[in-house]
Amino acid sequence: MELLRFSAFWCGAILFGSIQLEEAEAYIMRLPRLCKFCDIRATSCTGKGSCKVECEITSICPNNEDVCVSIWRRKDDNFTFDTVCHNRSQKLYGLVLEDYNNSKCEMKERKGMGSEFFICSCSEDECNEHIFFNSNMDSQVVAVILVSLVPLLVMAVVVITSFYCFRVYRQRQARSRRKRGLPMDFSDAHAIMIDDEGSDSSSTHANNLNHNTELLPIELDVLVGKGRFAEVYKAKLKQGSSVSEEQGFETVAIKIFQYEEYASWKNEKEIFSDADLRHDNVLHFLTAEERKVQRQFWLITAYHPRGNLQEFLIHHIVDWPDLWLLGSSLALGVAHLHSDHSPGGRYKVPIAHRDIKSSNILVKSDLTCCLCDFGLALRLDNALSVDELANSGQVGTARYMAPEVLESRINLENIESFKQADVYSMALVLWEIISRCNAIGEVKEYEPPFGNLREHPCVESMKDSVLRDRGRPEIPDSWINHPGIQMVCASIDECWDHDPEARLTAQCVAERFDDMEYLDKLSDRSDSEEKIPEEILMVDEK
Ligand code: ADE
Repeated sequence: MELLRFSAFWCGAILFGSIQLEEAEAYIMRLPRLCKFCDIRATSCTGKGSCKVECEITSICPNNEDVCVSIWRRKDDNFTFDTVCHNRSQKLYGLVLEDYNNSKCEMKERKGMGSEFFICSCSEDECNEHIFFNSNMDSQVVAVILVSLVPLLVMAVVVITSFYCFRVYRQRQARSRRKRGLPMDFSDAHAIMIDDEGSDSSSTHANNLNHNTELLPIELDVLVGKGRFAEVYKAKLKQGSSVSEEQGFETVAIKIFQYEEYASWKNEKEIFSDADLRHDNVLHFLTAEERKVQRQFWLITAYHPRGNLQEFLIHHIVDWPDLWLLGSSLALGVAHLHSDHSPGGRYKVPIAHRDIKSSNILVKSDLTCCLCDFGLALRLDNALSVDELANSGQVGTARYMAPEVLESRINLENIESFKQADVYSMALVLWEIISRCNAIGEVKEYEPPFGNLREHPCVESMKDSVLRDRGRPEIPDSWINHPGIQMVCASIDECWDHDPEARLTAQCVAERFDDMEYLDKLSDRSDSEEKIPEEILMVDEK
């Protein structure tokens, strides 16, 4: 090829022997191109990847402005190549050569040429011999992917960064609160826990078994409750634990099960492990642990110094605003438990508590209730096994058992039956709260529902009262004088109906409390806060 170029140069020099030196130099600078030049030839190249044109003729292009061009065409199943020299400044088949500066011949499809038509041009010697089909499809797909992925990636980075900054900000706030000696009340801590949900390994404490082999550094304090299967202790989370540092919990409650009560611990742990259970009116769960050395299982939860509702009512008289807070929050907690959707609208497994009673309800510092003791609770999912159903007939505390539970005639085929039984028990608790409210006139000493019966009535004596005599706790006429209490009593009456189907739902009771809120505003609740001492010990009914 160099020989061809060399001879072309000297031919030019001899031919134009008279030209000036500068012109000769310019001529040397722009040597004629050597290109494959076979005009139209059939080819086996199918227009994919790269091909070598089947043209054995290399031509010295006649004009200095010429570049090498290849054209690939397909008509039906016939493929052809054109290989030519062509003046770069002139159109070829009506097309402007756009890529003649390229060193390689990269094919581009041109539409409207009658057949499938690809063309490329380039400015290196014989550069139109090896041609490359730049798959337009591929580049389009890449472009589409890039265009759609880049904004998504940018959004993901922004969301993750904002979430991270928010988390760090909340943690700093919590730390500075504690440094300044401000009390970390439970509602603050609750918010932080929600923020942490599912975000890192430390958050396994929020709703799961503590999978870290390291147990939380905990110092047990006093016994605050004793139940059928476990004892509850107030305890201190020592400095340095992730729960105390990040989530602001310093005082916690530890429910301790001996090894023999594994089933009860496991059931409660599994109920608590459902993140959808989280609610202001459900005891806040932190983590579960197996304490091998002591042969114990622990559940670690928020601690509420006011203790359980039964102890609270024994020691305190409440006014109407207190009653409204306690009653409406209780109904909200039960409604959340029973609901098949979370506040965000997602599906959640409804849960039946099956042991609602005043000693299984805690009073928070703002005088709202939260449900606790889920040892007998049942997840009402569609996959309930026959065994689970068979065992779910008569459980709970006899005093609070609905008539259909007392006679073991609960309709196991309908999950609503379990909720209806809970609503009956809730009605008894609402009655207990009213019985200690000063808005009904003279307030007597605390008495549990069916207080005429002995301390732990058995199922048989409850059957006599509730089924044979169709007895319910008394609602004296004086209770009806207060408009709010009158409305609550009307709901109670519907909730303890003998016919489970006729009972209100917990959600309906919560809505009725909501409708009464204006009565709360009419009342003065200035003295109700002071009269309640902070710490009350509780003893659970066995
Ligand atoms: N008794 C049972 N559980 C309790 C808790 N979490 N806080 C206070 N007293 C309790």
